[in-house]
Amino acid sequence: MNILLLGSGGREHALAWKIKQSYHCNQLFIAPGNPGTAQCGTNVMLDVLEFEDIKKFCIENNINIVVVGAEEPLVKGIYDYLMNSEWNGFVIGPSQKAAQLEGSKAFSKKFMQRHHIPTAAYAEFTIKNFEAGKQYIQQHTLPIVLKADGLAAGKGVVIAQTHEEALQVFEAMIINKQFGNASSKVVIEEFLTGIEVSVFVLTNGKDYQIIGHAKDYKRIGEGDTGLNTGGMGCVTPVPIMNNNFMNEVEETIIKPTINGLYQEELIYNGFIFFGLINVEGKPFVIEYNCRMGDPETEVVMPRLYTDLVALFAAMDNGTLADTNISYNENCYATVVAVSGGYPGEYKKNLPIEGLSNISNANNSIVFQAGTKQDEAGNILTNGGRVLTITSQGNTITEAVHQSKKILEQINFEGMYYRKDIGYEFE
Ligand code: AMP
Ligand code: GLY
Repeated sequence: MNILLLGSGGREHALAWKIKQSYHCNQLFIAPGNPGTAQCGTNVMLDVLEFEDIKKFCIENNINIVVVGAEEPLVKGIYDYLMNSEWNGFVIGPSQKAAQLEGSKAFSKKFMQRHHIPTAAYAEFTIKNFEAGKQYIQQHTLPIVLKADGLAAGKGVVIAQTHEEALQVFEAMIINKQFGNASSKVVIEEFLTGIEVSVFVLTNGKDYQIIGHAKDYKRIGEGDTGLNTGGMGCVTPVPIMNNNFMNEVEETIIKPTINGLYQEELIYNGFIFFGLINVEGKPFVIEYNCRMGDPETEVVMPRLYTDLVALFAAMDNGTLADTNISYNENCYATVVAVSGGYPGEYKKNLPIEGLSNISNANNSIVFQAGTKQDEAGNILTNGGRVLTITSQGNTITEAVHQSKKILEQINFEGMYYRKDIGYEFE
């Protein structure tokens, strides 16, 4: 099969790495990709939001499967566009309507309520009931979670520690349109205390398979301090996600979600990322994403033993439920090297030294995220999260140690990484 993968981050490098190993993969193209994905297939200069160009490319290159990495094309309807076009293939991703599970917090909260899926108590507000929203905030227990309804590049959630802060954020979102249309509706919800974990599922909207789980480290600073980032590192398997917990996740969250999609005829043919909080052993959903996580993919794909393209084919031909999922036995960790200043302002175009001396043997893989190549072939920084080093080991500690050893051989001006990924599991 010929496959087109859309995206250019560490997640896409890990997906490309996994897809390329498949016996079923003939040609792999990545659009626009990065120098890392170029090691796994052919990068093509297509914009992931230019659906017509993508369709033409698929027809001209006999593409059978389009795998969509990030949420934006999905929320903007790439699934519907391609599936209703003259191109004859299938898309890994949800329809535009179903992508609202990520694209609208209010949509996903209502969906969870309809299907009795455990989640934090909430209410939603717009300019029309702004005054009622202020009263709701004043009576709310602290802290208060405020979420812009739409996509806001990961910045639309604020956890306010005081009522005053919550009122300010509420006003900034609704009155000052801080996130444009994305914050014209705001979800206000109860704060859940517990450990945040994520579970990854592939579904065709009827059947599903769990393909992995992970714990992400979102804060920039060691000991989980400082600003939120896209993710500074991940580990899997997670010791607290034992069989009991995973059974509870499957029975109370995954099955009702898939059944809900099916009952409501929401077309879904892709990954679901369940963002969960383990509150004293009981899982609650804090968010759905309609794509894989980044950097979660960088540990989930190396741990997954099953052929990913065979799973895609099984989704299409109705055999997904009968497919066996197996995992490599080791523990996996990834540690992200970011640009100095991230998640705030940072420099780009800085040369990365040491990459060429590292071989992907030795139980580690260097996944590239925000990188680019200059005309002379040098790899330069091109984003906040630059590289993510995944390693395996007998324990999480061993895997993290191995990634840090690799990172000691790499350097770019201002490079920073957390040295304490997986600290709770030492
Ligand atoms: P979201 O975009 O909904 O995943 O929210 C971003 C981050 O805010 C999550 O990864 C959590 O760390 C935190 N968060 C969101 N909702 C809640 C909640 N109800 N209780 C506690 N933390 C939350
Ligand atoms: N690492 C979190 C995410 O991909 O949303």
